[in-house]
Amino acid sequence: MASSYIISFALVACTLFLMSGTSSAQLNHNFYSKSCPKVFDVVGSVVRAAVAKEKRMGASLLRLHFHDCFVNGCDGSVLLDDTSSFTGEKTARPNNNSIRGFNVIDDAKKKVESACPGVVSCADILAISALESVLALGGPTWQVKLGRRDSKTASLAAANSGVIPPPTSTLANLINRFQAVGLNTKDMVALSGSHTIGQARCTSFRARIYNDTNIDSTFAKSRQATCPRATGSGDNNLAPLDVKTPTYFDNSYYQGLVSQKGLLRSDQQLHNGGSTDSLVETYSKNPKTFFADFAAAMVKMGDVRPLTGSAGEIRKNCRVPNS
Ligand code: HEM
Ligand SMILES: *[C@@H]1O[C@H](CO)[C@@H](O)[C@H](O)[C@H]1NC(C)=O
Ligand SMILES: *[C@@H]1O[C@H](CO)[C@@H](O)[C@H](O)[C@H]1NC(C)=O
Repeated sequence: MASSYIISFALVACTLFLMSGTSSAQLNHNFYSKSCPKVFDVVGSVVRAAVAKEKRMGASLLRLHFHDCFVNGCDGSVLLDDTSSFTGEKTARPNNNSIRGFNVIDDAKKKVESACPGVVSCADILAISALESVLALGGPTWQVKLGRRDSKTASLAAANSGVIPPPTSTLANLINRFQAVGLNTKDMVALSGSHTIGQARCTSFRARIYNDTNIDSTFAKSRQATCPRATGSGDNNLAPLDVKTPTYFDNSYYQGLVSQKGLLRSDQQLHNGGSTDSLVETYSKNPKTFFADFAAAMVKMGDVRPLTGSAGEIRKNCRVPNS
C-alpha cells in the first residue's frame, strides 16, 4: 500500500519534472562515448575541410542549428526535403534562398554512418557541426550535449510563424522570441554575436540601408552600392554581417553595433538606446566575456525541446524520414 503511494508520487513528480522548462536532463556530452566514440572526430574533419574550402560554410552550418532548434526544438526538422506529398521548412520565409550547408551535413552523416551505423541522429550532427564551425573560424569551445533524436516530420507553418525572428524585429520582439524557447536576454545578445561571421542578402537589409537613421551614413552608402533600392533588383546580392572580419569568429560584430554599423535592423536594435546597450558595449571591449557567454548560450540553445528516449528516430538519411 505505502509503496504504491510512493511509486505514484514518484511518477507524478517525474511527470511534472519532464513537463517543466525546456531543458533536457537526458542530453549529455558522453552520450555516444561507447556507441560512437569517434563522432566528434568524424564530423569535425568533414566540417574543417568544408570551412577550409569556403569560410562562409562555417557561418551557414552554425545558422542551420539555430533554425533547427527554434522550430519545434533541435530535432533535425530543418534538414527534411520537400516531397510531392510533404512540404518541409526549407522554403519557409526565413529559410528560402538563404539556409545552406545541406551537402556538408550529408557528407558528415555518411561518414558517421559508416563508422557507427544507425546510432547518431542528424540533430546531433547539426549540434556538433555548429561547434566545429565556430572552432574552425577561431571562436570558443563548449561541451556539446548529445542524445537528440530526429523528427519524423517538419513544420512549414511553424517555420513561418515568427518563431525565428525576422530582420525587421524590434528589441522587444527579439527578447520575446528567445524567451519563448527558454533563452534570456543575455543569451539573445550573446547568440546574436554569431553575426560576427557570414553574409546576408540585400533583401534582408534593404530597408535598413535606405530608410534607417540609426546607421553610419558612410557605411549605409557603401552597402547601397551593391544593394539597389528597388525591390526585385539584386535581392540576393550578399554583404557581410560583420563589417570588419566576417570570416573570423571574434567580437568585432559588437564594435560594429557601437559605431552604428549593424547590417540588419535587428542587429542595431541591440545597441539603440535600450536595455541591451551596456551588454553590447561589454562584449565590444571584452572578447573573453563574449566567448564565455556565447559558449554557455550555445549549450542552452542546444537544449531546446529535443526528442529523446524512444521519441522520433535516428534517420538514415538526414533529408528523409525512415520509412
Ligand atoms: C537575434 C535574432 C536573429 C535574427 C533576426 C537573425 C537574422 C538573420 C538574417 C536575416 C540573416 C541573413 C539571411 C539572408 O539574408 O540570407 C542571418 C544570417 C546569419 N545568422 Fe542570424 N539572426 C538571428 C540570430 C541568430 C542566431 C541565434 C544565430 C546562431 C546561433 C545566427 C546565425 C547566423 C549566421 C551565422 C548567419 C550567416 C549565415 C550564412 O552566411 O550563411 N543568427 N541571420
Ligand atoms: C522560394 O524561392 C524560389 C526561388 O526564388 C521561389 O520561386 C519560390 O516562390 C520561393 N518560395 C516561397 C514559398 O517563397
Ligand atoms: C522607405 O520608407 C518609405 C516610407 O515608409 C517606403 O515607402 C519605402 O518603401 C521604404 N524603402 C525601403 C527601401 O524600404
